[in-house]
Amino acid sequence: MLLDTYLWTKVVHVVAFTAWMAGLFYLPRLYVYHTQQAPGSDTARTFQVMERKLLRIIMNPAMIVTLATGGILIWQIDGLLFGWMHAKLLLVGVLLAFHMLLARWRREFAAEANRHSERFYRVVNEVPTVLLILIVILAILKPF
Ligand code: HEM
Repeated sequence: MLLDTYLWTKVVHVVAFTAWMAGLFYLPRLYVYHTQQAPGSDTARTFQVMERKLLRIIMNPAMIVTLATGGILIWQIDGLLFGWMHAKLLLVGVLLAFHMLLARWRREFAAEANRHSERFYRVVNEVPTVLLILIVILAILKPF
């Protein structure tokens, strides 16, 4: 058991997507409070530093490790044969697109050129929650 590379790959997979999801939940929340700050203020600059570090030091590496371990797992179980994996990959694709949008909004905040309201970021903050629930249901129950 302890030397089962498949299970160790899955351990790393679950830890990595947990870190990635934590960032996908927290970054839009930072944007909600960032919209309340005057552009160029000390607090706005503090949010810029927090957002840049969260994305580059935690979210990007966690995303890469999630995808890499997912690829290894898929290869080990011929995962592309299963309907649940096709649906899971589709939802992971949406999660990746959401990550890229967060990165683009971070750049806009960094350039003091945010175009979205506090309410907008409160609404998009729900997107990763729905995706996580659906992805975990597919990954564990494998319904089809
Ligand atoms: C391209 C990205 C991904 C690929 C290719 C992938 C692929 C896989 C594969 C092949 C397994 C093993 C299934 C098994 O042994 O039963 C697995 C397990 C799992 N994956 Fe992913 N995954 C990806 C991303 C994610 C993400 C983003 C999440 C969550 C947000 C996630 C959640 C899970 C969970 C909870 C398990 C454990 C299932 C179990 O042990 O029954 N995966 N993944």
